[in-house]
Amino acid sequence: MKRTLLTLFTLLCLLPAAADEGMWLPSLISSRIDDMRAKGFRLSAEDIYSINQASMKDAVVLFDGGCTGELVSAEGLLLTNHHCGYDAIQRHSTVEHDYLTHGFWARTRAEELPNKDLNVRFLVRMEEITKRLAAGETPEEIIARAEAEAPGYRASIEQMYYGNQQFLFVYEQFDDVRLVAAPPSSIGKFGGDTDNWIWPRHTGDFSIFRIYASRDNKPAAYSPDNVPYRPKRHFTISTKGFREGDFTMIYGFPGNTQEYILSDAVAYIAERSDPAKIAIRDGRLEIISRAQESDPALRIHYAAKHASIANAWKKWQGEVLGIQRRGTVAAKRAYEEEFARWAQDKPEYRDVVAGLKAEYARITDPYFAREITLETLAALPGKYTPEERQKEFFPRRETPERELFHWQVGEYARRCPVLFQIPEFLDGVAKYGTVDAYAERLFEETWNGGETPLSDSLQNGIKRMLNHITWLTGTKSLRNLTSKHLNELYTRYVKGLQEWDTERAFYPDANLTLRVAYGTIAGYEYADGEYHKPQTTLDGIIAKDNPEIYDYDIPQALRDLYASKDYGRWGVEIDGRRTVPVCFLASNHTTGGNSGSPVLNANGELIGINFDRTWRSTMSDIAFDPSICRNIAVDIRYVLFVIDRIGDADYLLQEMKIK
Ligand code: ARG
Ligand code: ASP
Repeated sequence: MKRTLLTLFTLLCLLPAAADEGMWLPSLISSRIDDMRAKGFRLSAEDIYSINQASMKDAVVLFDGGCTGELVSAEGLLLTNHHCGYDAIQRHSTVEHDYLTHGFWARTRAEELPNKDLNVRFLVRMEEITKRLAAGETPEEIIARAEAEAPGYRASIEQMYYGNQQFLFVYEQFDDVRLVAAPPSSIGKFGGDTDNWIWPRHTGDFSIFRIYASRDNKPAAYSPDNVPYRPKRHFTISTKGFREGDFTMIYGFPGNTQEYILSDAVAYIAERSDPAKIAIRDGRLEIISRAQESDPALRIHYAAKHASIANAWKKWQGEVLGIQRRGTVAAKRAYEEEFARWAQDKPEYRDVVAGLKAEYARITDPYFAREITLETLAALPGKYTPEERQKEFFPRRETPERELFHWQVGEYARRCPVLFQIPEFLDGVAKYGTVDAYAERLFEETWNGGETPLSDSLQNGIKRMLNHITWLTGTKSLRNLTSKHLNELYTRYVKGLQEWDTERAFYPDANLTLRVAYGTIAGYEYADGEYHKPQTTLDGIIAKDNPEIYDYDIPQALRDLYASKDYGRWGVEIDGRRTVPVCFLASNHTTGGNSGSPVLNANGELIGINFDRTWRSTMSDIAFDPSICRNIAVDIRYVLFVIDRIGDADYLLQEMKIK
C-alpha cells in the first residue's frame, strides 16, 4: 500500500514518461515518433532528421552561439527573436539611424547589413561515439577527422546522461550573416521587463537575417561577392491558424537543464541560492530604477543593464514559486528514497544517493560563497572609462554607481560564509573600520581611475578565492560534467535510475545541442478558477497601450491600423471579433537557447517563433510540470502582419512559402 501510494505520488509530481516533457535527440526521434503521431504529428522520423536526404534539421540553426533561428526562404532568409538579434541591431544603430527605436527594413539586398562576429551553425550530423572512445580513439582525433571533412565544418563531443553516452556533433558554420529587418522596439520588445516571463503576452519578438555563402554555396568569410545561401530545406509558413489541443513541435538548441539533480540540490536552489540572489538583485534594481526615473538620460544609460539583471532575477522568482507550489523537493526526495531501497542489494548503486548527499553537504557552503561573490563583488566594475566619469548625469555624490558599491559590498559582507570571505576584503574592512567605509574607499578608487593598489588587490583576491572554491568543490555547477566526484556519482545514479524506473522516458539534459520538443497548443489554470487562454490578439496590445509608460507605448502606425481595422489578409475572427493574433502558449519543454526556435504544426509548417516561458514554468529547468509549464511564441501571422503593414516590406513575404 505504502509503495503504491508513493509511486502514485511520484508519478503525479514528476510525471515520468507523461505528456510533453522532454527534449529529444533528433537522431533518436524514432523512439518517440509513435507518441508524436498519437498526438497528431503527420510526418516521419526521417522528415525530422536524416543524413541521406534534406530534412527539417537543415532548416534550423544555432544562432550567434546561444539562440535558435529557422530558414524561411530558398535564399537564406532566417527568422529569430528580436532579443536574439538585439546586439546586431544595436551595433548598427546611431543617433541618426536609430534602428532599435524605429526599426530597420532593408529595401534591397545591397542594404542588408553585415555583422562582424555573428555566425550560424547547421547540424550536419550527430552520432554516438561511446564505443569508439572506449576502444581507444581520442576525442581530439575524432574531432580533427570530422572537421577535415569539409571547409567550414566544426565538431564537438558532448556527453549525454552524465557521461553514460558520448556523441559527436558535426556542424557547418556560416560567418556572413546580414541583418535584413527588425521591427521597432515598441513592437519587438513590447511589454519590456514588465511583461517578461509573463502571460498574457503581446511581444512581436522577431528579427530577420540572411545567410550569405560563396558562389558555390559554401561557408565563406564576409565578402561583397558572396551570394544568398541556398539551404537544403526551409520551412513553409502556415497562416491557417490552430486550436487549443493541436499538435506543436519545437526544433532548437536548448542550453542547460538539470532534470536529474538530487533533491538536496533542488532544495539548495529554491531555499538558499535563488532567494539570496533575488534579494541582492532587488537592491541593485531598486537603485538603478530610482536613478532611471530621475533622469531620461539615466534611463537610456542603464536600459541594457537593467534588462539583463532583471531577466534572471525574475526567472529565479518564478522558479522558486513553481518548485514550492508543486512540492518538487518532497517529490524528488520520495523518488530517491524509493530508488535507494531498490538499490540496497546492488553494489554498483547502493551507496550512490548517500554519496551524492554527502557531496552536496560538503560543497554547499563554498558553492554558495562562489555564487554570492559572483553576484556582488565580481559584478562591480573594475574601472570606469573617462567618458563615464565625465558624464554630467553621474553627479559625483549621488551617482547610482556609488550606491551600488555600498549595496553590493554590504551584501557580500552579510551573506558570504565567513570561512570563504576574501582575505583582502577582510583586511580592507579592518583597515577602514567598517564595511561601509571600505565600500566608499573602493568606489572612490575605482572612480578615480582603477589602477590603484587597493581595488587591484581586491580583484586579485576575488580571482584567487573563486579558483580556490572551484578546486575545493571540483565543480562550477550543481550538475557539473567535468568535475570528477560529482560527475562520477551522477553517471552511476542516472544509469541506475534508467535500470530501475523502466516506465520513465529518459532524455538527456539540455546542453546546447539540437533537440525536438513536442506538445500541444495549451492554456492552463493560472490560479483557482482562473484559466489562461492560449492566444492573445491585437486587441490586447491596444488595451495595454499607454504613451506614458515606456514599455507599453506602441507605434502610431499600429494604433492607426487598429482604428481602421484594415488588417487585410492577416485579419482573423477570434471570439466573434475581427483581430490579428499576436502570441500563443504551448506545452513544449523549452529553456534558454530555445529563443528563436521554430514552432511547427502537425505538418511541420511554421506557426510561430518561440521566445519565452510563463513565470512558474521556469522550474522546468529542474522539473517539468505539465500542469503549469508553458512556452510562449509569437504567432507567425503577427510577424507577417508587422512585416507587411508596419515595415511595408511585402517583398520579403514574396520569397517565403506562405500557405
Ligand atoms: N525571458 C526571455 C528569455 O530569457 C526573454 C528575455 C529578453 N526580454 C526582456 N524583456 N529582457 O531569455
Ligand atoms: N527567453 C529564453 C531565451 O532567450 C527562452 C526561455 O528561457 O524560455 O532563450
